[in-house]
Amino acid sequence: MRKDDIIMNILVLGSGGREHTFAWKIAQSEHCSNLFVAPGNSGTSAIATNLNISVTDFEAIKEQVLQNKIELVVVGPEDPLVKGIHDYFLGDNDIKHIPVIGPQKAAAQLEGSKEFAKEFMSRHNIPTAAFKSFTADTIAEGYEFLESLKPPYVLKADGLAAGKGVLILDDLEDAKTELKNMLLEAKFGNASTKVVIEEFLDGIELSCFVITDGKDYKILPTAKDYKRIGQGDTGLNTGGMGAVSPVPFATEAFMEKIESKIVKPTISGLIQDNLPYVGFIFIGLIKVGDEPKVIEYNVRMGDPETEVVLPRLKTDLVEIFKAMSNQTLSDIELEIDDRAATTVMLVSGGYPESYEKGKEIHGIDEVKNSLVFHAGATLSEGKVVTSGGRVMAITSYGKTYKEAIKKSYQSINKLCFDKMYYRKDIGFDL
Ligand code: AMP
Ligand code: GLY
Repeated sequence: MRKDDIIMNILVLGSGGREHTFAWKIAQSEHCSNLFVAPGNSGTSAIATNLNISVTDFEAIKEQVLQNKIELVVVGPEDPLVKGIHDYFLGDNDIKHIPVIGPQKAAAQLEGSKEFAKEFMSRHNIPTAAFKSFTADTIAEGYEFLESLKPPYVLKADGLAAGKGVLILDDLEDAKTELKNMLLEAKFGNASTKVVIEEFLDGIELSCFVITDGKDYKILPTAKDYKRIGQGDTGLNTGGMGAVSPVPFATEAFMEKIESKIVKPTISGLIQDNLPYVGFIFIGLIKVGDEPKVIEYNVRMGDPETEVVLPRLKTDLVEIFKAMSNQTLSDIELEIDDRAATTVMLVSGGYPESYEKGKEIHGIDEVKNSLVFHAGATLSEGKVVTSGGRVMAITSYGKTYKEAIKKSYQSINKLCFDKMYYRKDIGFDL
C-alpha cells in the first residue's frame, strides 16, 4: 500500500485505557488526518478530539460521523457491538459505506451469549469445557446436572454481566442455591435468565488475540492479564489489574496447537455459520496439561491487554484496519517488537467496590521511561483527575518481562493520587 493512498478521519468508540492505546497507535499513522474518540478521556483529549456522546447512542454517533466526515469507525467495548452498531451502519444509506471495525450483532453473540458461544464451539469441535444450559423451567435438571459433576462448580450467566456473571463454587449446596438465585431471583438481571453450567478446568490462563476480515486472519501477540484485586490473585474480580506480553509459556509448539485447534476452526466456523466478522476476536484460553481450551470469546480487544499488545505491534494500525475492511488482510505482514511489554493498572482505593472520584493525579509529566495510558481519568479545570475505578495503565518495554515490569514500578513511584492502589506482583506466577 502506498503511503498516500489513504488518508482519513477516524472515530474510536470508548473511554478506557484500551481506547487511549488505540488512539495512541492510530495517531502515529500517516493515514490518519483527524482522529476522534467518543467519549474518550483525558489521555485521548491530548491526541484526538473527544466527542461527548455515549457509545450506544447510535443516532448521535451517526450525526457526528457525518458532521466530521469520518471514514472509519473502530469499536472498543462489547456493548455497542452486541447491541448491533455495525448492523445500524449497514442499514442506513447515509453511512453504510463507512467501515466499522467490530462484528455484526449475530457474531457478537459469541460474547453476548455464553450458550451461543458454547454451541458454536460444539458445532465446530473447538476444545472447551463440557457444559449444559438451563432456564427457570429446567432448574430441576440443573440440580441433577450439578449432582453429576465433581466440585468446583462453574455457573455462568448467559448474557453480558459486566464481567461478574461467572461463579465458581466448591460446595454442591452453595452451587444449587446460586443456580436458584440466578434463574429464579434474577441475580444478574436478564443476563441470568439462562445459566450455563460447565466442567471446571484446572490450568493456567492466557489470551490470544486474532484479527479477521471475515476470510483470513492474523494472530496478534499473546497476553496474560491479572483479574483479581489482591496480590497473589486473591479477592474480587476486576476488569484487569495488569498484563504481560508475550506469555512466556506460550511456546511456538503451544501456539501451533492454538492456531490449528482453535483459531482456524473459529474462523472457518464463522464462515460456515454465515456470521460476518470484521474485527478483533479475543480468545480467553486455559492450558490444561499441554492442551489449550477455550474459556470464553470476546468480540473486542481486552483491557488492559491492549495496553501491552498494541505497543508491540510495529505495523501501521490504519493499514491493518483498511485491509480488514477491504478483505485484503492476507496482504498484510504483521511486524512485532521482540521486546516484552508489561502494564500495571493504577486504581482508585475501594475499587472494584465503591470508591471516590475527582482526585487530582500528580506526576504524569515526570514519567519518562513508560507509556501512560489514561482510563478512568478526565480533565477538570485544566487538571487530570480520577473519574473511574481503573484510572491509568503504566506500560513499559523490556528485554524480558521482568525488566519491563521493573520499569513500570519505577514510573509508578513518580505518580500519585489520593487512595491510589495497584498490585505490586504483576507477572508473579510466570
Ligand atoms: P469468563 O467470564 O467466562 O471469562 O470467566 C471468568 C473467569 O472464570 C475466567 O477467567 C476463569 O478464571 C474462570 N473460569 C471460567 N470458566 C471456567 C472453567 N470452566 N473452569 C475453570 N475456570 C473457569
Ligand atoms: N481484561 C479482560 C477483558 O478485557 O475482558
